[in-house]
Amino acid sequence: MKKLLDLITEKVTAAFTEAGYDAKYGKVTVSNRPDLCEYQCNGALAAAKEYKKAPFLIADEIAEKLSGDPAFSMAESVKPGFLNLKLTEAYLADYVAQMQADEGRFGCEKTDQPKTIIVDYGGPNVAKPLHVGHLRSAIIGESVKRIGRFMGHNMIGDVHLGDWGLQMGLIITELKERKPELVYFDGSYEGEYPTEAPFTIAELEEIYPTASGKSKENEAYKEAAMQATFELQQGRRGYQALLNHILNVSVTDLKRNYENLNVSFELWKGESDADPYIPDMVQKMKDEGYAYLSDGALVVDVKEETDAKEVPPCMILKSDGASLYNTTDLGTIVWRMQDYNPDEMIYLADKRQELHFIQVFRCARKTGLVKQETGLKFIGFGTMNGKDGKPFKTRDGGVMRLEYLVNSVNEEMLKKITENQKEKENLEIGEEEAKETARMIALAAIKYGDLSNQAVKDYVFDIDRFTSFEGNTGPYILYTIVRIKSILNKFYGSGKTADDAVIVAAHSKSEKDLMQTLAGFNAVMEQAFAETAPHKVCAFIYELANAFNSFYHETKIMAEEDETTQKSYIRLLELTKSVLETCIDVLGFAAPERM
Ligand code: ARG
Repeated sequence: MKKLLDLITEKVTAAFTEAGYDAKYGKVTVSNRPDLCEYQCNGALAAAKEYKKAPFLIADEIAEKLSGDPAFSMAESVKPGFLNLKLTEAYLADYVAQMQADEGRFGCEKTDQPKTIIVDYGGPNVAKPLHVGHLRSAIIGESVKRIGRFMGHNMIGDVHLGDWGLQMGLIITELKERKPELVYFDGSYEGEYPTEAPFTIAELEEIYPTASGKSKENEAYKEAAMQATFELQQGRRGYQALLNHILNVSVTDLKRNYENLNVSFELWKGESDADPYIPDMVQKMKDEGYAYLSDGALVVDVKEETDAKEVPPCMILKSDGASLYNTTDLGTIVWRMQDYNPDEMIYLADKRQELHFIQVFRCARKTGLVKQETGLKFIGFGTMNGKDGKPFKTRDGGVMRLEYLVNSVNEEMLKKITENQKEKENLEIGEEEAKETARMIALAAIKYGDLSNQAVKDYVFDIDRFTSFEGNTGPYILYTIVRIKSILNKFYGSGKTADDAVIVAAHSKSEKDLMQTLAGFNAVMEQAFAETAPHKVCAFIYELANAFNSFYHETKIMAEEDETTQKSYIRLLELTKSVLETCIDVLGFAAPERM
């Protein structure tokens, strides 16, 4: 379906051209004075210059032409030359009814040029527990992926595990200290390695920080870890086998954590998967004269004349030949292009990694790892802070584990629900349902709290505000959906039907406002995709929930006596519910049946 604003613009444009003016003056926008009109066109003011005519005379002509159009209940010229417009209730109702008939899409067309887009998000580091920093990546990336998928694109999510580099060497070194007898450390061993890992996830999570601590104090230990990293990267069999164990144990745990967040990845690749592609890639960069030695390290220049700040060369190999974060990201681009030939790759990481991505993207383009037209986009997100404005920490100042955070929001939510139930003396929700409901609302609280902010901004994780049922929060949106569900249950429970009915012209201002807000759905989704901006979807559903609640408070739905009117209300409620549910689905959460 065409966007409502485009339909109105078409009409106004036609009026301009019929009156002999250029079509470009017919652009319509949503009114910035909703007290005066719904839409406005300022084209007459601009046209006045070109046609050397008083703007209000032009606006008068256009208003005159539009006055006969049944779409407009008002087409008014206002001095010095504004054109103020209002739609008729019937025209708007017809648009909204068409949205409803367009099941599952609600007026939002899928793209006719689907792209293959890889979204690189998550980025957890193997053997280290997920911490809140990874939360933003997971939440925003999942939503970016879902928005793209809704728009009809082939979206592929890759978790891109941090499984390469010193952390692996550290774990291997610590393991060797503890269990030197393990066969993995026997360089002459040629047999098969055991399938069972020589550690549990709990041990693994303890091994890493211990090793990391030791390496900071003990130079020889650090040397050993670097040597182990190097040997692993050179393909030492026993270490490769250990890496596989570390990966398996970690990934099982990570999957469980991501599942709790309703986040899933199509690809579980890691930095280590880039390794086989690195030698050829490096050789080619050398052969083609892009890579050169600088202080022993192999680098590629990536600065550009227009840079305001200096962009240092992209380091490809350290002087000892070891690969770096840059190298694995470049090698990853190689296999992604080979296996998926994506039109675009979108990366999510902390905004402090921006320089890294500038270097990697430029290097990839310059050395021909990607095509000129391949899109490379970095979405850098801000920090999630505690109420004190400082990065979120546990009470004793440690790194906040994601699991801990999610559990505490779950508990808070369960408390709220139980209290609510007691207040309403509505004790019908059993313990199991209460827990599951709390989990759903908690997830909405966390995700909406994050996604409603523009990604690049830092934000304060305020558990009291995020879990509130009022205001611009996830629980408020869910509450609105649940409210609609309950009205619909009452209506259908009384044996009535409405499926033969369509939405008819609004009976009140609040009903018209609700329709007008609904009509913006397709434009919002398109924009949220084009700008990779889930916060636009949040802003839309907040507006929609508000519009619905105003309508609900002013309208007697169940007591409405006129059957056509009542059925139309019900249909409008159904559309509102579907649109809200579609939106929260692309944000990555869902609503319970009741709460
Ligand atoms: N593992 C990294 C970290 O924890 C994030 C990875 C982001 N993605 C990438 N392709 N570099 O900081």
